[in-house]
Amino acid sequence: MTSVKQSFFHSPAAIAAGAAMLGALLVVNVIAVARGVESPWMLGAAVIADVVAVGLGVLVAVREVMMADQRSLVSEARLAGIVDSAMDALITIDEAQRIVLFNRAAEQVFGCRREDALGASLDRFIPQRFRAAHHDHVEKFGRTGVTSRRMGDVTTLWGLHADGREFPIEASISHASEGGHHYYTVILRDITLRKQSEDTLKRSQQELRDLSARVQDAREEEKTRIARELHDELGQLLTALKMDLSWLRQRLPSGDVEVAQKAGQMHAMLEQTVSSTRRIAADLRPLMLDDLGLADAASWLVDDFARRAGVRCEMKLAGGSAFAGLDGGIATAIYRALQESLTNIARHSGAKNVWVVLAIDDGMLLLEVEDDGKGVAAEDLAKGRSLGLKGMRERMAYLGGSLEVVRAPRGGTRLRARAPVRALAQEADAA
Ligand SMILES: Nc1ncnc2c1ncn2[C@@H]1O[C@H](COP(=O)(O)OP(=O)(O)OP(=O)(O)O)[C@@H](O)[C@H]1O
Ligand SMILES: [Mg+2]
Repeated sequence: MTSVKQSFFHSPAAIAAGAAMLGALLVVNVIAVARGVESPWMLGAAVIADVVAVGLGVLVAVREVMMADQRSLVSEARLAGIVDSAMDALITIDEAQRIVLFNRAAEQVFGCRREDALGASLDRFIPQRFRAAHHDHVEKFGRTGVTSRRMGDVTTLWGLHADGREFPIEASISHASEGGHHYYTVILRDITLRKQSEDTLKRSQQELRDLSARVQDAREEEKTRIARELHDELGQLLTALKMDLSWLRQRLPSGDVEVAQKAGQMHAMLEQTVSSTRRIAADLRPLMLDDLGLADAASWLVDDFARRAGVRCEMKLAGGSAFAGLDGGIATAIYRALQESLTNIARHSGAKNVWVVLAIDDGMLLLEVEDDGKGVAAEDLAKGRSLGLKGMRERMAYLGGSLEVVRAPRGGTRLRARAPVRALAQEADAA
């Protein structure tokens, strides 16, 4: 690397020597003036000393100017080296938006040699449809007085390659004034590869979400089918068996206590089997969700949970007739979210009270389940093997909604699921 030595005359020793010389010169001059008439040789010596001092001063000044020039050349060369070795493209434009600096990375990014770019308008590297807007942006930026800013915060910016191809870029702009002129420097990079991988990632996430939704739908259909069969087929057979047993018990010989006892036990067992079958069917899929709708099914679920878990539950329903026209997929997803939240409360929270809100407002279906238990920690939500909340979040995202689980202001856990009620219907209309 080129370097210039620090001037000797800037060292403390040189400054001290210079000051001592000037002091001695002053003394010689004063003595010469005071005794000039009596001793002309003194006057002569003073004049010679003055001439020598002025000569030396001129020499030092000339040398300093030359060294300063050299230093400035070296620092310019160093800056040019830095600019050229930068990984990002660097383009400086003047007020007329003509290019005055174009580094090596810019040559590669835009496929254009520096000699061709210098003096050209920046428009050359911006797709036609963005040129006017870009001009305005640069001018506005100059007027704001801000020195630097990221460009295109919300939208993707596009560059124009010399071969006519457009490519996405990421850029920042800075503004500086020199000699009364304004210069704008844009630092940018080609993000084609990054965008491609982002798009691929988004696509594969969407595919996974679709797949998970399909799997859940298939499970839901399967559960509904089994619940229907348990309820209709097995339920009816058990009821018929119960009626037959009652018929038999009425006709048993009255003296045989043992047989009567056995028949009584059979009756109790049958009762238990009927209620177990109902419970298993309801756990699989509450048929009232299909028959009566989400509001009733959710109320039944909350009441059943309060009874079984011994937790005080308060439920608010708001939305009235809007529940009637609810899409089946959304109703099922919200029902499952409520079921999972209540199961989590029973398994993890130790809560005494639960507050549930189910509402339809402004085209959004909202479910809020809050408990006064021990609360949920961030690391709980990241547990690898826990799938309940993750599944719910995926489901909500698939439906165009969202799910959040946070620590509630009064201590416990609050789950909030939202989904647009008309999302699926609109999609179907659009298709
Ligand atoms: N209401 C709650 N109160 C306290 N902690 C909770 C609550 N809900 C969830 N958690 C915590 O969050 C974790 C993740 O819950 P999640 O439902 O995803 O999984 P899980 O219940 O552990 O397992 P599963 O996959 O069977 O649902 C739980 O393990 C628990 O530590
Ligand atoms: Mg769970």
